[in-house]
Amino acid sequence: MSTEKLVYIETFGCQMNERDSEIMEQLLRQVDYLPTRELSRADLVVVNTCSIRAKAEQKVYSLLGRLKKIKDGKPGLIITVAGCVAQQEGERLPARMPQVDIVVGTQNIYRLPSLIKEVEAKRCSRVAVDLSPSFVIPRHLPSPPGAVVASASEKRPFKKFVTIMQGCNNFCTYCVVPHTRGREVSRDMDDILSEIQDLAGQGIKEVTLLGQNVNSYGKTSDTAGGRFPELLRKVAEIDGIQRIRFTTSHPKDLSDELMRCFVEVDKLCPSFHLPVQSGSNRVLKMMNRRYTIESYLDKVEALRKMLPEISLTTDIIVGFPGETDEDFSATMELLEQVRYHGAFSFKYSDRPLAKSTDFADKVPEDVKSARLARLQDRQDQINLELHQQHVGSCLTVMVEGRSSKTSRGQWSGRTDTNHVVNFTAEGLQAGQMVKIRIEEACLHSLRGSLAD
Ligand code: SAH
Ligand code: SF4
Ligand code: F3S
Repeated sequence: MSTEKLVYIETFGCQMNERDSEIMEQLLRQVDYLPTRELSRADLVVVNTCSIRAKAEQKVYSLLGRLKKIKDGKPGLIITVAGCVAQQEGERLPARMPQVDIVVGTQNIYRLPSLIKEVEAKRCSRVAVDLSPSFVIPRHLPSPPGAVVASASEKRPFKKFVTIMQGCNNFCTYCVVPHTRGREVSRDMDDILSEIQDLAGQGIKEVTLLGQNVNSYGKTSDTAGGRFPELLRKVAEIDGIQRIRFTTSHPKDLSDELMRCFVEVDKLCPSFHLPVQSGSNRVLKMMNRRYTIESYLDKVEALRKMLPEISLTTDIIVGFPGETDEDFSATMELLEQVRYHGAFSFKYSDRPLAKSTDFADKVPEDVKSARLARLQDRQDQINLELHQQHVGSCLTVMVEGRSSKTSRGQWSGRTDTNHVVNFTAEGLQAGQMVKIRIEEACLHSLRGSLAD
């Protein structure tokens, strides 16, 4: 009789959580848990959580509520909470929610197999949430054959996230991440390169290098500027890898050397996520972002001078405590100045341990909502205007997969500038490069057909 059991993993939050879920999936295979997408069949559930805004955290509690009901009818079910809410709440989670068996913090995912063994043997609850500035990210596990196309990566068997560092030392006043991911720690460069070589050998063509602040990769007292450009150049030497992306970069640390990589490293895609957060210097100061709008715009200009086709995206928070109408107008003005290819925008949310939670002059909810709606409306128009400029041109697209489950021949892919392109064609494969003639501009994508 097989001893294999099933694990259901639910992932909230950023790409780093997605990558951590893949790592947990791989670790769990070693203790005979195979992934399933059917919650009702699971012997083990792992909820990998995000705490970036209050809403993200609420989603976790509502799922844990549903899981409690399932566990009432299936007492042997093991429930694990991982990720940033696990790190933030620690012991409080099983105390408040006895259905939770295991709490595993952001630096402790590697201990999951042994924690599960203990819980299976003793039916006790276990909490592992140590966070240490001297944490060393363990060496990667070579992927077993077939693992790349399983679960989380099912939809994109040709591209992968690779974590190069974790944690953050910046302490933006609104942000929970330095508290949930701890201090910046970088992975060993050889280990990163050998992981990417391994991926290339399995047919992966695109990698996205992940870190809360990649510009600080490899930063020590001897390498004050960090070693991120060096890492990029070495990744680019790996045969089989065709596209390299990375996220996220802090504007204050964007060096000339990194900018030059966009021109000099062929495989580095001309698309760049550079979170600005606000267009007002007064607000940026209260956020502890440590750059001014003028210096941010100078960097944007320098980048565009080097590489005019580079597409820029950003993150924006509206309604930070003390944000006035005038401050918000400065953010609206910034949209006109930069004309981003896309902006992720959020209403400010108080977070535990974040400094701004104690700031005065909180902006009322209805004002935040109105500002967000105005900002998103204008950004949508800009998206459309920028997309319209591509109509009639021919773009190179990496095929990602079918864009529609119902109608045959509908495909979706991305340009190197990260534009989503939908098109009609037959007999394609994910990961293939095709030329598409753009016929129509939509809000969040382009439409076209195969060029000859
Ligand atoms: N390390 C990255 C991203 C961190 S989180 C960076 O520095 O850009 C992703 C985005 O969530 C942030 O850029 C910010 O725009 C948003 N965010 C973070 N904390 C928030 C909060 N308390 N309320 C609303 N949005 C927040
Ligand atoms: Fe949060 Fe700021 Fe660090 Fe980004 S740089 S993770 S916003 S503290
Ligand atoms: Fe969320 Fe933690 Fe990522 S708070 S955004 S999962 S680093």
